[in-house]
Amino acid sequence: MVSNREPYLHAFDTDGRVGWSPTTGGVSVALDSLMRERGGVWIAHGAGDADREVVDEADRVRVPPDLPAYTLRRIWLTETEERRYYEGFANEGLWPLCHVAHVKPVFRAADWRAYQAINRRFAEAVAAELPDDGAPVFIQDYHLTLVARYLRESHPETPIALFWHIPFPHPDKFRICPYRREILEGLAATDLLAFQLERDRRNFVAASRAELGAKASRSRVHLNHRSTSVCAVPIGVDFDRIRSVTRDPGLDTEMARLRRELRIETPRIGIGVDRLDYTKGIPERLNALDCLFTRWPNLRDELTFVQIAVPSRSKLESYAAVAADIDRRVAELNVKHGRGPTDGPIRYRTAALRVRRLVALYRLADFCLVSSLHDGMNLVAKEFVAAREDLGGVLVLSELAGAAQELHDAVIINPYDVESFADGLELALGMSEEETHRRMRVLRRVVAGRDVFRWASDILEGLEDPTTWPPGPR
Ligand code: UDP
Ligand code: G6P
Repeated sequence: MVSNREPYLHAFDTDGRVGWSPTTGGVSVALDSLMRERGGVWIAHGAGDADREVVDEADRVRVPPDLPAYTLRRIWLTETEERRYYEGFANEGLWPLCHVAHVKPVFRAADWRAYQAINRRFAEAVAAELPDDGAPVFIQDYHLTLVARYLRESHPETPIALFWHIPFPHPDKFRICPYRREILEGLAATDLLAFQLERDRRNFVAASRAELGAKASRSRVHLNHRSTSVCAVPIGVDFDRIRSVTRDPGLDTEMARLRRELRIETPRIGIGVDRLDYTKGIPERLNALDCLFTRWPNLRDELTFVQIAVPSRSKLESYAAVAADIDRRVAELNVKHGRGPTDGPIRYRTAALRVRRLVALYRLADFCLVSSLHDGMNLVAKEFVAAREDLGGVLVLSELAGAAQELHDAVIINPYDVESFADGLELALGMSEEETHRRMRVLRRVVAGRDVFRWASDILEGLEDPTTWPPGPR
């Protein structure tokens, strides 16, 4: 397994002791479940300030730290490398390039050079860790588009898959990137390339044709005497693990504690759980809540909305700007619709929750709001469903999140249309128990039927014999 983000991070606490925590984000949470089950080596950037303290002489540490099941091999980056490769090329360039969220992508030659160098470093680490030529390599996401190509120099036969977790842009937008051809060639050096949605697959195939003159069918791209299978396999969540947390006898206590800590005194609760990212549509969500509380002033005695927004990529201006915007709007809303600045209907928290607390929060909610402006999938939406074995809770979901392609029984909203978004919230709040249960039952069938293990085995089995993938008509 190869990704930029590591699943566990070690950090010094205020007393100088080494602690650890799981990291936040769709890649690390989903893939950790898989690695716990299958074992193997996960190669990732060691980003914690105490990460070096716990590794052996080969930069390895067994994780999860409390129940070791697989090996984490850490790659080290200097501050400048991190700024150029991760913050710069990956997150100021590729991330806004791939998301329709109106943030202008920035491409700098120095960032690109660092991106190439770090991708080569990852490829060298993979080569060093490979037990044999037949061991499959599974690369994650837009940070590592060149790894397969570099790895091929020493390992032409190694089976390599890459999963693209975010949207893949239309060729007209992709053309903005000055390094697009190298990126496409890097991706085409894999044996199997999987995307979240058909749209993403189609965009990649079209870009390969347009930019590289590659020969391509619906499911295959031919380039440089190689052929790559290209498919859409939407990622899922670890349904059973979430369900088992919901059956934990301590969960009720956890829910009561959360309620107390969040000072929730209203009978109804809405929640939003996100990385603090401008693609998540958090300001738009606050606008819809503003509209709702304006329509129904007495609702402030009925409803508390809890927003968890975990800081992410905060050194970048685009992220700092949305964080400041959210702070301001939350304060405004609490004054406008509350009984005082400290007694408004919105509870805003930025500390990351671990799985038990997260599941407890999912269970407290009458509705969960996912209002992304553009999102590859959105696993929070699926986790919320997985946590609702009681069949309670309504999912309110943006039609611009990948998850909306599967979760038709959510209340589907458009985050750009504030009035109808507020109508969606009214619908969720007014929904009968019978209808809530009916919808949740259907949603659970969908989410359970395509969990993270099914996703991984579809990809890894496809990798074992890419000529048979995807099944069905080509
Ligand atoms: N997450 C978490 N703790 C938090 C907030 C989020 O563990 O306090 C996890 C959440 O459970 C989910 C992931 O972060 O698995 C977010 O994935 P998603 O696909 O929703 O969005 P991404 O952050 O990958 O864009
Ligand atoms: C998205 C990306 C992942 C990334 C995650 C968290 O899910 O697709 O590759 O790991 O966000 O972002 P971060 O920058 O903290 O790794």
